Amino acid sequence: MAFDTLLLERDGAVATITINRPRVLNALNAQTLDELRRAILELEADEAIRVVIVTGAGDKSFVAGADINELAVQTPTGGREHGLTGQHVFDLIENMGKPVVAAINGYALGGGCELAMACTLRVAADTARLGQPEIALGIIPGYAGTQRLPRLVGKGRAMEMILTGAPISADEALRIGLVNRVVPPADLMAEAKKLAAQLASNAPIAMRYIINAINKGVEMSFAEACQYEATLFGLVSSTDDMREGTKAFLEKRKATFTGR
Ligand code: COA
Repeated sequence: MAFDTLLLERDGAVATITINRPRVLNALNAQTLDELRRAILELEADEAIRVVIVTGAGDKSFVAGADINELAVQTPTGGREHGLTGQHVFDLIENMGKPVVAAINGYALGGGCELAMACTLRVAADTARLGQPEIALGIIPGYAGTQRLPRLVGKGRAMEMILTGAPISADEALRIGLVNRVVPPADLMAEAKKLAAQLASNAPIAMRYIINAINKGVEMSFAEACQYEATLFGLVSSTDDMREGTKAFLEKRKATFTGR
């Protein structure tokens, strides 16, 4: 599938999506959001792909938010549809059932921070800046930032970041749990690829169930979530990979998982 605003590369079991509008710091316009939606659906259906990396083109910005040219002329009904569309695309990323690693190579602001939060794991360059600056535009986050940020870093910190709009450093993001790892910019893609390769050797169905159990479980009561976990724990016992993983351990060798 061809894209104008994204680059999509496949390297074995790992696919890399690069948001490619460097002249506007990779801001997300309607076309980019739609291409991202199509790319995610394509990679979700591709059995050969086990892990996805999302990054931004250039060395300055991951994604500097929604495209402010489009926001400036948005109508109330159009704004609602825009928000729902962005939320839908990011839901697809969060729930695609394959780990998605955000390689945050610079500004992750507004929709960029929301995109990073929809990813499963986040690796940031130490030069990255993360924030929800919408308040400075007289608006609020619209791609579920008001919901994912408190779930990741707690209500108090989310209130502060969204109400002040002030971006934070990568080190501060690491300290509060907004990113998983921080590395020098030159090492960012190597670190993201190393993590992706490690995940790509895991049992795909088990990873799908882990992502599902955590994403769905945090929205349920503890007791219901434990029931749900037990059901997935039972289901995963039906897989070839469960038999291979346990057998390989007992035979003192490395398991080879097939995704069956
Ligand atoms: N939408 C549309 N265009 C954007 C953009 C966005 N979210 N973010 C940056 N750009 C454009 C700028 O307008 C500029 O275009 P120009 O060269 O035609 O003037 C270009 O990208 C480079 O940005 P610039 O502001 O000159 O770079 P900078 O290094 O001085 O500042 C930022 C970088 C990220 C601090 C600044 O661009 C910024 O604050 N962007 C908006 C962030 C934001 O509010 N995002 C949330 C949107 S909901």
